[in-house]
Formats: sequence, C-alpha cells, structure tokens
Amino acid sequence: MEKFETHTHDVIVIGAGGAGLRAAIEASTQGASVGLVCKSLLGKAHTVMAEGGVAAALANVDSKDDWKTHFHDTMHGGKLLNNWRMAQLHAQEAPERVRELEHWGALFDRTKEGNINQRAFGGHTWKRLAHVGDRTGLEMIRTLQDRGIHTGVDVYMECTITHLLKDGDRISGAFGYWRESGRFVLFNAKAIILATGGIGKSYKVTSNSWEYTGDGHALAYEAGADLIDMEFVQFHPTGMVWPPSVKGILVTEAVRGEGGILTNNKGERFMEKYDPERMELSTRDVVARSIYTEVQEGRGSPHGGAFLNISHRGAEYVKKKLPSMYHQFKEFAEIDITKEPMEVFPTTHYVMGGVRVDPETAQSTVNGLFACGEVAGGMHGANRLGGNSLSDLLVFGKRAGTGAAEYANKINNDVKVHDEEINNAVKEMLEPFENTEGENPYTVHQGLQDAMGDFVGVFRTKDKLHEGIEEIHILKERGSQLKIEGSRMYNPGWHLCKDLKSMLIVSEAIARCAHQREESRGAHSRVDFPNYNDEVWGTVNSVISKDSSGDMNLGTSPLPQMPEELKKIVEGGYK
Ligand code: FUM
Repeated sequence: MEKFETHTHDVIVIGAGGAGLRAAIEASTQGASVGLVCKSLLGKAHTVMAEGGVAAALANVDSKDDWKTHFHDTMHGGKLLNNWRMAQLHAQEAPERVRELEHWGALFDRTKEGNINQRAFGGHTWKRLAHVGDRTGLEMIRTLQDRGIHTGVDVYMECTITHLLKDGDRISGAFGYWRESGRFVLFNAKAIILATGGIGKSYKVTSNSWEYTGDGHALAYEAGADLIDMEFVQFHPTGMVWPPSVKGILVTEAVRGEGGILTNNKGERFMEKYDPERMELSTRDVVARSIYTEVQEGRGSPHGGAFLNISHRGAEYVKKKLPSMYHQFKEFAEIDITKEPMEVFPTTHYVMGGVRVDPETAQSTVNGLFACGEVAGGMHGANRLGGNSLSDLLVFGKRAGTGAAEYANKINNDVKVHDEEINNAVKEMLEPFENTEGENPYTVHQGLQDAMGDFVGVFRTKDKLHEGIEEIHILKERGSQLKIEGSRMYNPGWHLCKDLKSMLIVSEAIARCAHQREESRGAHSRVDFPNYNDEVWGTVNSVISKDSSGDMNLGTSPLPQMPEELKKIVEGGYK
C-alpha cells in the first residue's frame, strides 16, 4: 500500500468558509483538537459572495423588528417548507452571533447613533441586514479567520477530501490528497463537520467559483446520510451578463436594497407586474423569474438581461454604499454605475437542499457526521432570503462545533480506520491514470453544465426534467471511465475527475427531486404544475439516500410538526 501522512484530531472540519470557520472555533473552544481542511486557500470562500449583509433582528434601524418577525419572514420566504426549529433557532440566535462577531473585531457600518447599521433586503419586513458596504461576507471571513487562528485550530490548506471513512455505523476519519503534490493524506477523527458550501459548478452560469462542486453533499450521500429538498436551487436574480468572461458574477441584492430599479428595454419598471407591493424587494425566486420572463418575451437588454439602475442615488452615495459594485462594473464592463444602468440576469447562487441535520446539534443521520452552512438542508425551505445565509452559517456553525465536540468527547475508545476502505479510495483515485481509454473530464463537465442549464434551470417541465435525467445518466456512464494524462503533481484535470463524480451525484439528486415534485414552490418552478399543491407537496421534504445496492433512492418524508405558538406567528401576518 502507498505510504501517506496521517493527522489525528477529535474533530475534522471540511471547508473553511464562514460555516467551517465558525464551527472550528466553537469545537476548539469546547476543548476538542480541531483540524480545518480546505480545498482552496483559507479565506477564499463563497461566503464573500454574500455581499449585502447578514440578517439579524437587531432592531437598530427599525425598532419594531424582533425574532418572531424574522422567523415569520424566513418561513414565508421558504414557502413553509423550512424546518421550523432551524428557522426558529436561527431567528432567535442570529442577533447574538452578529454582536459576538463585532466583539471579535468585525467592523460593521454604523447608524448615526453608533449602532450596527441595517439595510433592506428582499422578503425581510424590516431593515434587517447588518452590513459592511457591499463586502459583508469578506469582513466576516476576515474576522473568523483571525479568531480561528488564535483559537488554536490546525489548518490544512489546498487539500481535497475524497472519501469519508466509517467504523461500523460511525465516522472514523477522512481521506484525501494534497492538491499540489497529489500525495494522499489520512485524517483520523471521531467527528467530521461538513461545511463545504454549494453546488454551483454543476451549472455554467454561476456566482460560485471553482471550489463549489457539491463535495460535501456527495461525501454525505456516499457515507449513508440523507439529503433533503435538492430540487431547490436558488438562481440569484442579478448576475452580470456582459462581458462573457464575467457572466454570472454576483451583483449584490444590496443594489436593490439601496433603491435600485429594474427596467426592461421598453423602459418599463416590470416588477410592478409581478409583485406590485414589494417590487424590486420581492423574494429572489420571484425577481429571478420576472427577469427571465422579460428576456424570454423579447424585452431584454442588449446582452440578454434586464437593466438595473442605481444612478439616481447619486455618485457619492453609490460609491459609499456599494464600493465593490462600482469597481466591479468599472473594471470588468467599463460601466460607471453612478451614471449608467447595469445589465443583469439570474445566476446559480445557492442550494437550499442539503444534508438532513438535527437542528439542535447539526448531526446528520450518520453518527459522528455533522453539517452546517450551505451543505446542510432544511433551514431555508424552498427559497432562501438574502442575508439569511450569513446568519445561518454563524448560528449553525456554532451549533455544529458544539455538537461535534460533545460527540467526540463521549467517544472514549478510538474509532478504527479500516485498510480496505483506504485501499478502495486509492484505487478509485488512481483509476483515471490507469485507464487506457476513457473520456476527458472537461468534456463531461461541459455536458453536465449544458444539461443542467437546459433541463433543470429556472423553469422546469416534466419532459425537460426527464430528458435531463436521461442525459445525466449518460454522463454518469461516461464519467465512470475517465482518462487523464500527466502526473499527480498539481494536475487540475485529475482534480476534476473526483469533483465531477460529486457534481454528477448532486445533479442527479436535483433533477430527480425536481421531477418528483409536481408543483411550483419557491425556487422550483414547474411550468406544467404552476401552482402550489399544499395537500400533497406542502407537507413533505424530498429525500435522497443511497440504498444498499448503491443506487440513488428517492422519496419523501413528512415535515416535522410545528408547535401551535409558532403556527400563530407564521399564520398571523406577523409585524
Ligand atoms: O446579494 C447578495 O449580497 C447576496 C447575499 C446572500 O446571498 O445572502
């Protein structure tokens, strides 16, 4: 057997964005020895793409705000498919997590009175998003990174985890490789926290960067955990459309939060048609569909989007509130947004579906396997409100850290790593070098992105989804025999071989869940079933799991029963 280095920790956190960092800090604070493994460089995470703010009912700007209204908004934003307990904990604990971050050094924008400033965002009743201009996620990552390093977390960068290891029915470690050398590495651990973020790279047009290939979703699935609600993929309404090299890059919702107006090529403010009450600050699912429809019906901008204008707020205001957007458009598109409108179109941004977790501890259905942040499902239901991802990762990052540390503490005997599992992992990883014939992983990836865009996009139908599933099955077949040249030393083609397997798993899960759910709800829009079907689909989560023969199993499970006092908040049009 090939030699490889080994590291031993109580808890291994996979993924070093906001959720992973917050989890690692907590587990370490609870006394666990923690290793934080990330595929990329520390701090380079999709968290920074939540630019406009972190949602928390601090009530600094709108004094009527409270956790109940935040809970109400989140449940309605998620079209009542959210795990109610997660939404409750999130709304109750977000203010404390934000204040804590401030104590750790995060520099939020201030109100005149010197409190943390808050701005409006779609679907939030009150001005609720604590922010740092349009760089909120970046400031949060900076703060958490600093805190994490000083809490004594060991960081392993540029390391991809390819397999989770199990001792019987519980987690015993993780296996992977260093991206630079290609050498394998083993992490012994009593508990693993997945904080790997999203799946955006299954689509061509996305705000996600190269890291987001659904690794955590696939690792959990392979380890026997349930995935829920995978059909709900969030298309952020406003991505850049031009020039082609930057297509999909995020244009923060803060532009609309600060008064940005959407128009079509006839100069019509089209949101009047789709949501006259909330207009541009409608929920993301609605705004994305509206822009898509305008373009489909021939009222798009020259490069196939809608116009988004903020210039009426004046140059000084725009540069102060939206400095990154100002530079992004100036440098990438030669557009001065203080004078001219932007062109925007929906971009794949976030997946609401993910690993089914216990709301209190963030433990999955596998012993010792925890998940938090985007890779976890349930919190956001059918559609996430902007800004709720940053608060989610703080609240459930902390909970996952505590849950994993407590779990690890209870296991007094060491868990075993079995040679057979490692041998299988090594064999699978080396296969693309050994295959004399096979597909180029880039070609298969391109096919997958095309299929997901064409058949599993903003609007879906039974026939298109069926075609998409067939196409994914063909791609899976092709992806099972990949061939790669060169050595294991920094070889992106080889890295893609494993990432592709993960993307094929999550893509199949998304397409099959979308095919199964015969209704429209939140981010899942079925042209052939344009309405809610509360009776059949309003009471169940979609569930994906791996069955004993290795096949993907699809089903549903009932939503947990919401207590009466929370039902009253949800039903009460609470303000
Ligand atoms: O538009 C944005 O700033 C993104 C925020 C989010 O996804 O929560």
